[in-house]
Amino acid sequence: MRPILVTSALPYANGSIHLGHLVEYTQTDIWVRFHKLRGRTCYYFCADDTHGTPIMIRARNEGITPEELVARMHIEHKTDFKDFLIGFDHYHSTNSEENRLLSEEVYRANRRAGHIHTANIMQAYCPQDGMFLPDRFIRGTCPSCGAPDQYGDACESCSATYSPLDLTAARCSLCGTAPVERESEHFFFNLNHFEPFLRQWTSSGALQIQMANKLAEWFEAGLKAWDISRDGPYFGFEIPDAPGKFFYVWLDAPIGYMAASLHYFKRHDIDFDQFWRQPDAAEIYHFIGKDILYFHTLFWPAMLQGAGFRTPTGVFAHGFLTVNGQKMSKSRGTFITARHYLDHLDGEYLRYYYATKLSKGVDDIDLNLDDFILRVNSDLVGKCVNLASRTAGFIHKHFQGRLSSAYPEDQGLFQLFLTESKTIAQLYQEREFAKAMRSIMALADRANRFVEERAPWTQAKENRLEELQQTCSVALNLFWLLMMQLHPVLPAMAEKTRLFLNLDDMNWVDTPQPLVGVTIQPFRPMIQRVDPKKVQAMLESSQGSVPVAATVTPPRPLPPPSPAPEPAASASITMDTFMAVDLRVAKVVQAETVPGADKLLRLLLDVGPLGPRTVLAGIRSAYTPESLIGRLVVMVFNLAPRKMKFGVSEGMVLAAGDGSGHLALLAVDANAQPGMRVK
Ligand code: 2FM
Ligand code: ZN
Repeated sequence: MRPILVTSALPYANGSIHLGHLVEYTQTDIWVRFHKLRGRTCYYFCADDTHGTPIMIRARNEGITPEELVARMHIEHKTDFKDFLIGFDHYHSTNSEENRLLSEEVYRANRRAGHIHTANIMQAYCPQDGMFLPDRFIRGTCPSCGAPDQYGDACESCSATYSPLDLTAARCSLCGTAPVERESEHFFFNLNHFEPFLRQWTSSGALQIQMANKLAEWFEAGLKAWDISRDGPYFGFEIPDAPGKFFYVWLDAPIGYMAASLHYFKRHDIDFDQFWRQPDAAEIYHFIGKDILYFHTLFWPAMLQGAGFRTPTGVFAHGFLTVNGQKMSKSRGTFITARHYLDHLDGEYLRYYYATKLSKGVDDIDLNLDDFILRVNSDLVGKCVNLASRTAGFIHKHFQGRLSSAYPEDQGLFQLFLTESKTIAQLYQEREFAKAMRSIMALADRANRFVEERAPWTQAKENRLEELQQTCSVALNLFWLLMMQLHPVLPAMAEKTRLFLNLDDMNWVDTPQPLVGVTIQPFRPMIQRVDPKKVQAMLESSQGSVPVAATVTPPRPLPPPSPAPEPAASASITMDTFMAVDLRVAKVVQAETVPGADKLLRLLLDVGPLGPRTVLAGIRSAYTPESLIGRLVVMVFNLAPRKMKFGVSEGMVLAAGDGSGHLALLAVDANAQPGMRVK
């Protein structure tokens, strides 16, 4: 099998990593980990994208050099990535010697081959700052609709695009001076020389279908020469033999992919040419956002081709992130940086949530924070960790931590999991992560059903010890296979599973032998439930000190705190969403009033093998404590615990209500048992 080299787009060094960036790093990291766990040689490289005017200006504003700014951001970015378990083989910088040499080589080779020409152009220049102004550094009145204070390239009011020289009353946004027109010599890359090659490359299967269609439009519109130079002062690499002229940041940025790999390969004695010069010795894949397609599917392959390097095997574009259905917004607190998130929540929650949303397509993905809480708690805690937590205790209590010495009859589940594993591997390979997660969770449901049917708690009570050990051994074997399948997404949970089961590794093998006769460690949860309060705290901290309205809907107490008209009908939900709500039969064993809370009763509920739960229920207006003792009710079992003024409520009992305080608890037939699932 040929080795693989994979990259994610290089983040700019003048900004923090945010949850939008993390869609791509998570997607790439899952794909890379998958290949590594399957034994494929695979390298994952990235770097800071350090050059350009914005970085130069920001450093100037902070009173430091661009190099100092870049060094500081490098540490910040690397720490954020590490904490989200993004496993780069090497994280480099475009402001590096390797990148300078490679950029010069790419430029020289293209120049020699006649793919670069020079021409004089007119541009806006600020005499006060002594520099040419990028479009984004000029503001003025839109020549089309007259809207004031618009950027130099496009009007946010009427969407017109224009040259900055067309703006009325244009101003340098750094110093407010009116820019003047000035002529300067620029270097242009003749993209049109590559049209036949690019047309062929585009149809070679390197691109998603939607992206190939986009390219067809660009071919139709005609390929124009690309300006690859900028005048000094500019933070970047000076163009050889052209003093005062610098490579435009987008020329040396993708070459940063090569530079990062060169740095790593030199230190690990790996042949760089095998990856970048030989046409077929390796595979190269770039993961990118759909907004930078032009650079990666036209300029980049053309530049490589023109300089005698090989071209990428595939470019995979993804969509943008919305939070609660809208563009990330600072005022709504939904512009969430990696650090704001990590200050409150575990990185693996987000990795899993993104995995449940990602496909090979380019659709945008939405981080709905209520759904995020529900999904992570229901899938990772309710379906996966629970499998181990419900069974490991018996293994320790009765069998000194040892699993059965022969693999027991399991209704063919182990074999089913291995068969399904092949399909799941194929889905990972195709970047169909959402489908893979659905298949894995369907297996988790099967495993939990097995445990419920065998009812180890009853086997223990009735002292059927051999059966008990068998049930738990099957459950723990299935848990192991599930965590193996989830390993690319949840590397930290997989590692905790490895330690728990005393395994050498958690690699994804096709035909693992069941774990028999082995001793396992005492169970400790591999992940905690998402606490909605922490999600809320994250939003508040993202927004600064301004308190936010409830962007995350807090779990509802019963009944609504004040009478409110009931909506006629609710919006529809998917079957998946409904099935994520774990409804259980529970028996009220204690009920009492709560001093100071005239609407609440504190209920102690017996949920059978799932253990006791305390729930604060707003049903005092309709029920006396005594009338409830011994009664069967329906409870939402997987609602995150909610800290109320009067204590923690660990779930919710279901009652019908008309909003005016009239309440009726849902009844369950007397032949139901506490703990039974309500479906
Ligand atoms: O759009 C961006 O954030 C760029 N910094 C991506 C560069 S990717 C590669 F070409 F370097
Ligand atoms: Zn100025």
